[in-house]
Parts: sequence; structure tokens; C-alpha cells
Amino acid sequence: MSSLFLHCRPGFEGECAAEIQELAAARGVTGYCKAKSESAFVIFQPHEPAAASCLHEVISFAELIFTRQWFVVIAESNELPLTDRVKPLLASLQTLPAAVGEIFLETPDTNQGKELSALCRAIERPLEEALRKTGRWQSQSGHETVRLHVCFLSSTAAFAGYAVPGNSAPWSMGIPRLRFPRGAPSRSTLKLEEALLHFLTAEERERILQPGMSAVDLGAAPGGWTWQLVRRHLRVTAVDNGALAPELLESGVVEHVRADGFRFQPSKPIDWMVCDIVEQPIRIAELAAQWLVRGWCRHTIFNLKLPMKKRFQEVRSCLAHINERLQEAGIVYDLACKQLYHDREEVTVYLCRRSA
Ligand SMILES: C[S@@+](CC[C@H](N)C(=O)[O-])C[C@H]1O[C@@H](n2cnc3c(N)ncnc32)[C@H](O)[C@@H]1O
Repeated sequence: MSSLFLHCRPGFEGECAAEIQELAAARGVTGYCKAKSESAFVIFQPHEPAAASCLHEVISFAELIFTRQWFVVIAESNELPLTDRVKPLLASLQTLPAAVGEIFLETPDTNQGKELSALCRAIERPLEEALRKTGRWQSQSGHETVRLHVCFLSSTAAFAGYAVPGNSAPWSMGIPRLRFPRGAPSRSTLKLEEALLHFLTAEERERILQPGMSAVDLGAAPGGWTWQLVRRHLRVTAVDNGALAPELLESGVVEHVRADGFRFQPSKPIDWMVCDIVEQPIRIAELAAQWLVRGWCRHTIFNLKLPMKKRFQEVRSCLAHINERLQEAGIVYDLACKQLYHDREEVTVYLCRRSA
């Protein structure tokens, strides 16, 4: 009986489960979730066995805020022999819908999961080889393929199945492997780097993040986000009463304004506003909506911090608020929201005014 395997941040299983249930129900599919606190994954089991693969087609991965990666489960193995895991795994995968073009060997994002990473590395080649031998491997582009996912819960237990590459994260477990850049003033820098990678295509990054473009960074100190923008040669106004890393000021393209981000107004319209202020999410949502409504910026990336209990509902009401404000103002926009790997108790939102 097939189901959906959803990777999430440990501690956010409840949000991930509530979200998939709601989205499935909106498509007329009912089911239940198996979710253990801090396990970093959720299983959604539709009542109708064939529905899991349909849901993987009709729900867009971009709609899922609390899911980092997902796949359709075809097999659950609990007693894989230590001597040969490949043969029984392959035998359980007879119903793959197409040839395999890529393999992701995964674990849940937990400490226990990390201990299984050597096993994942060791099994990748033999699995690819075995698929090749049985004619189920397709390395040439232009052919319709699926990505094989095997997620180990222990050295003998795994969920296995497939994802459609265009409707899932391009990274194993939904985790982009980013190196902390030398010279960046804070680890927060990786949040914006991941956001730019996640929300924008390579073509968009080139087109809408051009050298010489202007940006405002609200709540900028010590400057990790500003650093990412400077790295791409944007001119940045960094707004924060706190101190900014001196190297940023020396770059010649950063102006530090000591002011309240909720009161700051740019002297002329700019390309980007980014905001990492720790505040009530609804205030940040209103601030971002205002920047678009007043025509102060075209693109914005901001964090909604979620220290409260009802995190799913909180995000939903913030996004509904933005929608209401922009619709009232007749603004056509694109919005995407995700709990990224480098996000902690927060989600990241990308919002932009659509071109006329
Ligand atoms: C999480 S830190 C930002 C880290 C920054 N993004 C980085 O990468 O280094 C939040 C910042 O928001 C600033 N902040 C808080 N309230 C603010 C406000 N009303 N206006 C401007 N900055 C504010 C704080 O001073 C703090 O430096």
C-alpha cells in the first residue's frame, strides 16, 4: 500500500502532518499521518491506496511549507539483511513507474540518522549497478525518469520509493550542502544564500540579482544577509541600530543607517528588500506587504519567526494577511514560503510583484 514520505525539520512533524492532510483533503483525498515527535519525518497514508502517487502529481512541492523533501513510498523493509541490502531493496521496487535517472540515499535529519550516512554512501554504487544490470537505469537526458529514494531508519530498516525530479527538492533530504563562506559576519548568511538558491532559478538569479541593483536589509546586523548581497555586487542600505561588520562598511557599497526598520523609508524605489528582524510574524508580514503596496521594492525575502505553539496557523494567517493587503491594492504577485534547512524556528518567504 503506497504512502507519502515527507522529510521535515525535527520538531515540526505536527506542522508537516497538518499541512499534507489539509492539502490532500483539498484534492478530495483523505488519510492519516504517522508522525513521531523529533523523528524529522511524517508518513501520510491515504485511505485509497493508489492516491499517494496521484497526490505527488497534483500537489506542487512549492505548496508544501514544512516539507523539505518528499517521495512516494513503494516499499517498507524492516529486516534488510546486513550482508546484502541491495537485492531485497530492488526486489521490493518492481512497481517503479519509470526507469531511474538518479538515486538519493537518505536518512531522517536526526543525530541517529547521521550515524547511517556511511551506509548510504556504501550502498549507492552497488544499487546503481544493480539497476543498470536489470535495465532499470537511464542515465541519458531526454528520457522520462524518476528519482529513486531510499531512506534508512536503521541499518536494517528503510522506506523506498520514487519522486518526480521536477516536483521535489533537487537535494538529498532537501538539504543543500552550503559551505559557510569565509569572511561572512554571521551564520545567518546561509539562510539568505539558501533562500536565493531555493526560490529563484539560475536564470532568475542572473536576471533579478544584477550587479548595481539596490537593496535594503532591515535588521541587518552583524551583516550576514548584507554580505550575500554585496557578494553579488548589489548596493545595500543596512538598517539596524546594532553594529555592522567593519569589512562591509569598507566595501564601499554599503550604507549603514541606524534606524527602526518599521519606520525606515527608502528615498526612491529599490529592487530588493530583505528582512530578518525578530518580531511578531504578523508585523513582519504587514511590513513586507506595505513595501510592495507602496512600490518601495519589487522583490522581498523575509523570515517569519515562529516561537509560538500554533505555528502552522500562524504562517497561514500571515500569508492570508499579505494576500488580502496586495489584492486590495490590486497588485499581482508571486509568493513562495518554505521552512528551509538553515531556518530554525522560522520560515522564509519570497514575495515579488509580477511584471506587467
Ligand atoms: C537575527 S538578527 C539579523 C541577522 C542578520 N540577518 C545577519 O545575517 O547577520 C536580527 C537583527 O534585527 C535587529 N532589529 C530588531 N528590531 C529591529 C527594528 N525594529 N529595526 C531594525 N532592526 C531591528 C537586531 O538589532 C538584530 O541585529
